[in-house]
Amino acid sequence: MKWTGFNVSWRALSLVFGFAICCMQTARANETVPPKGLPPVVVPADNPMTDAKIELGKQLYFDKRLSKDNSISCASCHDPAKGWSNGEATALGFGGARGGRSAPTVLNTAYQKFQFWDGRAGSLEEQALGPIQNPIEMNLSLEELESRLNQIDGYKKQFEAVFGSAPKAADVAKAIAAFERTVLSGDAAYDRFKAGDANALSAEAQQGMKLFFGKANCSACHTGANFTDNAFHNIGVGMDKPEVDKGREELSKLKGDRGSFKTPTLRDIARSAPYMHNGQLASLEEVVDYYDKGGTPNDFLDEELYVLKLTPEEKKALVTFLREGLASQSYPDVQPPTLPE
Ligand code: HEC
Ligand code: HEC
Repeated sequence: MKWTGFNVSWRALSLVFGFAICCMQTARANETVPPKGLPPVVVPADNPMTDAKIELGKQLYFDKRLSKDNSISCASCHDPAKGWSNGEATALGFGGARGGRSAPTVLNTAYQKFQFWDGRAGSLEEQALGPIQNPIEMNLSLEELESRLNQIDGYKKQFEAVFGSAPKAADVAKAIAAFERTVLSGDAAYDRFKAGDANALSAEAQQGMKLFFGKANCSACHTGANFTDNAFHNIGVGMDKPEVDKGREELSKLKGDRGSFKTPTLRDIARSAPYMHNGQLASLEEVVDYYDKGGTPNDFLDEELYVLKLTPEEKKALVTFLREGLASQSYPDVQPPTLPE
C-alpha cells in the first residue's frame, strides 16, 4: 500500500490538470489500490482513508493499553506473524478467559459484508469497539478507553490532527477500521496464473485448482476474488458436540440457520491454522479429509456437502493449491509501530 505516493501523485496531477482530474480524485478517494487479483476496497463515505488516520489506527491496533490490565491488544489475537489470527483453536483473552470460537484472520475483512463467524457486525467500524469492551477479550469500558487516550499526549495530538477533536471511542473505531482496510492478501500465484503466467502454479497446484473448482466443489461457497460467497452455511463443524454453537441462528432466529457460519476467505490460509469456527481441525490435510467424508451429518447440513471420494493424490494436490496457490507474494507483514507516550 503506497498511500503517500498515491495521494501525492494525484494531488500533483490535479494541480496540473485542474477540474477534470480534481473530480476523478474525489471519486478515487473512496477507493484503494488493491494487490493483484483483488477489487478496490470500498471505503465508507464518512470514514475516508488518509495516511495519518491509517498510522493512528495501526498504533491503536498494536496498543495493549486498550485493555483493562494493559496486557492484550488486537494484535494479541490477530497477529500479523500468525496469519493475522493467533494460532490457537479458541481465543485466549482477558484474565485467561477463553471463548468458544477461534479468532478469524483480519486479512481481507475489508471485503466482507459481515464480520464475526455469525455475521453479527456489518462494518469494521461497527466491529472494532466490540472486543475492547468484551469482558473476555480486552475488558475496557469506552469511558475508560477515552479517558486513557486523553492522558496520552501523542494520541491527543494525532486525534486532533486526524479528527479535529480529543480522542473519542467512535474515532478509535474509525482509525482501526481504516488501518484494517490496508491489510490485504492478494497477489498470489493463483492471481498470476489467472492473469496469464502459465508457470505461476506448479503442475500439482494446477491439478488442485481444477479439483477446487470442479470435483471437490469448494468453489460452491469459496468463490470470487476473496474466495467467499459472504453467506452462511452449516458444514457440520461442531454439530456432534454435546453443546451446539447455533451460529447464524442466534441472529436470524431461523432454525434452518442452526450451526451455520460465515464462509471464510481462503487467501493465505496456510498461515492461520487451526481451522474452523471452533479451531477443531489442525491442518489443511485435516480440512480436506473433513470435506472428503462429506462433513458431519446433521439435519441442517448444506446440500453442497457430500462424500467426494478424492484419491490420496487428489487430496495432496488440493492442499498444495491451498498452500502454494493462495499465498500472497506481498503479504502484509506489518511490524508493531512505536507507540505514543
Ligand atoms: C482475546 C482475543 C481477541 C482480541 C483481543 C481481539 N479479537 Fe478480534 N476476534 C476474536 C474472536 C474470537 C473473533 C470471532 C468471534 C466471533 O465470531 O464470535 C474475532 C473477530 C474479529 C473480526 C471479524 C473477522 C471476521 O472475519 O469475521 C475482526 C475484524 C476483529 N476481530 C478485529 C479485532 C480488533 C480490531 C481488535 C482490537 C480492537 C480485536 N479484534 C481484538 C478474538 C479477539
Ligand atoms: C457449503 C459451503 C462450503 C463448501 C462447499 C466448502 N466450504 Fe470451506 N467453509 C465453509 C464454511 C461455512 C466454513 C466455516 C465453517 C465453520 O467454521 O463452522 C468453511 C471453512 C473452511 C476452511 C477453514 C477456514 C478458516 O479460516 O478456519 C477451509 C480451509 C475451507 N473451508 C476449505 C474448503 C475446501 C478446500 C473446500 C472443498 C473441498 C471447501 N472448503 C468447501 C463453506 C464451504
